[in-house]
Amino acid sequence: MVKEKNYKRYTVTAALPYANGPKHIGHLAGAYIPSDVYARYLRLNKKNVVFVCGSDEHGTAIPNQALKENTTSQAIIDKYHALIRDCLYKLGISFDVYHRTSDPLHHQTSQEFFLTLYNKGLLTEETSEQYFDDEANVFLADRYIVGTCPKCGHTNAYGDQCEKCGSSLSPSELINPKSTLTGKVPILKPTKHWYLPLDQYEGWLTKWILEGHKSDWKVNVYGQCKSWIDAGLQSRAMTRDLDWGIKVPLPDAEGKVLYVWFDAPIGYISATRALFQELEAGNRNYATPQRDFGNVSAEDWKAYWQDEETKLVHFVGKDNIVFHCIIFPVMLHSAEQYIVPQNVPANEFMNLEGDKMSTSRGWSIEMHEYIEDFPDKPDVLRYALLTNLPETKDSEFTWKDYQAKNNNELVAIFGNFVNRAMVLTQKYFEGKVPLQGALTDQDKNVIEALTLFPAKIGASIESYRFREATANLMDLARLGNKYLADTEPWKLAKTDMERVGTILNLSIQIAANLAILSEPFLPFSAEKLRKILALDQFTWKDGGTAEIVASGHQLGAAELLFNKIEDDVIAGQINRLNENKKKMELQNQPVEAAKAEITFDDFSKMDMRIGKVVSAERVEKSKKLLKLQVDTGIDTRTVLSGIAEHYTPEEMIGKQVTILVNLAPRKIMGFESKGMILMAEDKDGALKLIGTSDPVAPGSMIS
Ligand code: 2FM
Ligand code: ZN
Repeated sequence: MVKEKNYKRYTVTAALPYANGPKHIGHLAGAYIPSDVYARYLRLNKKNVVFVCGSDEHGTAIPNQALKENTTSQAIIDKYHALIRDCLYKLGISFDVYHRTSDPLHHQTSQEFFLTLYNKGLLTEETSEQYFDDEANVFLADRYIVGTCPKCGHTNAYGDQCEKCGSSLSPSELINPKSTLTGKVPILKPTKHWYLPLDQYEGWLTKWILEGHKSDWKVNVYGQCKSWIDAGLQSRAMTRDLDWGIKVPLPDAEGKVLYVWFDAPIGYISATRALFQELEAGNRNYATPQRDFGNVSAEDWKAYWQDEETKLVHFVGKDNIVFHCIIFPVMLHSAEQYIVPQNVPANEFMNLEGDKMSTSRGWSIEMHEYIEDFPDKPDVLRYALLTNLPETKDSEFTWKDYQAKNNNELVAIFGNFVNRAMVLTQKYFEGKVPLQGALTDQDKNVIEALTLFPAKIGASIESYRFREATANLMDLARLGNKYLADTEPWKLAKTDMERVGTILNLSIQIAANLAILSEPFLPFSAEKLRKILALDQFTWKDGGTAEIVASGHQLGAAELLFNKIEDDVIAGQINRLNENKKKMELQNQPVEAAKAEITFDDFSKMDMRIGKVVSAERVEKSKKLLKLQVDTGIDTRTVLSGIAEHYTPEEMIGKQVTILVNLAPRKIMGFESKGMILMAEDKDGALKLIGTSDPVAPGSMIS
């Protein structure tokens, strides 16, 4: 590993989640857990770090969701901003600030940024033909256009991205484009926008990424950047025709807003500004409780974004690579006063039980659902995700693996070791750490192994290899477990208490090391362990020795760190997953396409009336049909209706129905049926009678 420069401060960002719905554990594995481990590790090393995130509240994803939930965009962002923020904090993601892009400070920061580029003459003004839906009378944002992906043939690709192959697209590349608003083929219409001429920065990007970061960026990240740059970059519009977003701060820009991918990454900067404003005002709303930033001023945010001595690291999922490695860095670089990221350790995707994770398809574990079901197990999820992060390729979460990671590793190795060390020390030494006597070779080997862990785990974290770091941490617990199993102090207790004391002293030292070194990974358990051991706060440097806890130190009460998870709990989760999938399949079934238009005359040809069912019986040899006698006000007639699977004859008698009386008679199963009972068919195929529940006289016309 290349020894990196000693930075004065660190700015760590995690992708701003769209506040358009709950987020799932795939998002945690992509950006939030790795960034949190990194930030916690830096803090434990006494580095000056700000860890920022917040809600991404613009773009078409928000009004889209408002449409689905039949509410306003504002209501959507308020609801999901709070939900996502609270879940992330409950899972221990230790942001110093969780801001939101609807905040006025963010609007101001983004508009200032736009004007900086505009006033430097760095944005090109272009009038282009854009897709317009002439029925809805709006220009169509990329997300409102679907069509066939030119790269992989997926028939439901969006105007900006194909979710199947991950390619970034522009709407004009889509084959057979259609408006999602009306289903119509959109037309092209001229509109003016402001573009970032990415092509002019190819030289700079080549030098900065392709030459400068070949050895320290992840292969997947570097590879994506290389193929983008090699393919040749194009100007990209930084504004959109939309009524939801940050207004373009120019006089001739009515109805135009900043492109969501222009404003969202600036959200990291506004979040940092907000943090320091709040800190200066003495308001600790934002900063996590344990942080002490000392005496700061509102202007201090600048150092975290503008000083070359600051290391900027963006944690994102693979679909965000281009925005964080190319577009945002070009914005930062061209605005001149900003630093650019030193690294963008993007992860691939995490699948779930053999399929792609997706909230809309019901195939996901939402953070809030997990927290509801396992309120005392944030660390178990963190551990299961950390040991399975999609760092180099897509990975997979299964509930069985989650259970195994808990039962076989957290409980059987980590928890078991700590518990044995504690219980034995309580039993033989009343919870007082015994003296370290003469050391055997076995003890010396354990101490030597112990000294290597902080640097080893630290090196993995610093190279963004969090899976490896987590495995190393568990190896430390393994070391302790093996030491106790090999030395068997419970057998020596009859003959050699001094030796028992030495073994337990070393065991407690290992447990103390676990309390320190597990903090970035398992913060809740590390805190619990620190309390069990009755230890003060520590730093990473305190680890790696067998002298953390003094002999004579009184330990706290022994307590289990982790508990076994039983099979029925796991079966319940798998069941719920399958149920959710079924439910969403029904909900997502496409609505039948609209039929061809008819005239009023066509409509008035239909004679629909209220009728009353006088009698009802099943039809022999038919599962579906009921034979009804219906009082139509005109006559009482026979109507055969395919509702036998949804209503019993008894239920039908006396029911008020809507009947089309002038439908030509038809012979069905040997009976003449005169007319048709009107019904609605649910998405799951269930039939429901339609009409009014208020009593209406048979024969009343429907118009
Ligand atoms: O992909 C997403 O979920 C985006 N909301 C990420 C934005 S990251 C940053 F630019 F803000
Ligand atoms: Zn595709």
